[in-house]
Amino acid sequence: NFDSMVRKLSAAQKEVEREHRQQMLQVQHLASLGELAAGVAHEIRNPLAGIKLAIQVLAKEAELAAGHRETMLEITRSIERLEKTMGDLLLYSRVRTPELGRVSLPEVVEEALSSLREEFRQNAIRVKTIFDPALPSLSLDSGQVARVFLNLFLNALQAMPRGGVLTIETRLREADRPLPEGLVPPDPSFGEKPWAEITVTDTGEGMDREVLKEIFRPFFTTKAKGTGLGLSLSRRIVEQHGGLIFAESRVGAGTRFTLLFPVPAPGEGTAPAGQGDPVGGNLLPSALRPGSSASH
Ligand SMILES: Nc1ncnc2c1ncn2[C@@H]1O[C@H](COP(=O)(O)OP(=O)(O)O)[C@@H](O)[C@H]1O
Ligand SMILES: [Mg+2]
Repeated sequence: NFDSMVRKLSAAQKEVEREHRQQMLQVQHLASLGELAAGVAHEIRNPLAGIKLAIQVLAKEAELAAGHRETMLEITRSIERLEKTMGDLLLYSRVRTPELGRVSLPEVVEEALSSLREEFRQNAIRVKTIFDPALPSLSLDSGQVARVFLNLFLNALQAMPRGGVLTIETRLREADRPLPEGLVPPDPSFGEKPWAEITVTDTGEGMDREVLKEIFRPFFTTKAKGTGLGLSLSRRIVEQHGGLIFAESRVGAGTRFTLLFPVPAPGEGTAPAGQGDPVGGNLLPSALRPGSSASH
């Protein structure tokens, strides 16, 4: 009856408000996390470089016992690991507003692929690209988007230690194709406009639900030497372009990442996506949206 409907609606309303409050807290947390990360990375990098140099000098001592030399090598390797983490942290906290230009997607994909060709070959990974000729050039920061692809390709590589197939497909997305359940479109007029859809599919080890829920969270990693920043960085970049990224996966079968970027209207210039948004302003819409397969 009517009363119970009203009660249900108000309960739903409360749930939405609670969810929203929680999201805001997390967004603030993420913003300060970025600043903190930049500060810490700076403070650590210089002394670290000093330590590395000192160790290298010590390791050259002629009278050094073999065991000690081995220890010094280990220290150097640990320092290099720390340097990598710091580098990723700095990259992560320095995602600037995209500098948009007209970009051909196949070119960005090929550029990112070319830096990994040798690794793919050595790991018996076949790379397939399928580019939709109907897809026009997009308004993107090619450097940033290339970094996103590089992250995705690297993850795919690491997920296929015994070889496999990496497929990259671009297509012009028809307006009425629904998104996977629980995903909120990047734009309220999503269904009325064409989007560029890029899928990156591997035949690797895949992920279970529990992992899939976490992959975009900063520092989440299942790898002994991972930093857990690749995907969270990628998501920030995609969302600063007014786009969307999500993942689907099956253990033992493989993983598919889907990226959506807005297709500029014919004649549209190179105005920045999300005009008027402060840096990171697009963090809110999907970074923490409820129920998405990938954003939690
Ligand atoms: N293609 C993939 N196949 C399987 N698992 C993946 C894939 N891409 C990402 N992951 C999972 O997501 C986690 C986070 O990835 P990422 O943010 O790139 O950090 P990292 O690669 O340093 O671990 C990985 O540790 C892994 O568990
Ligand atoms: Mg990675």
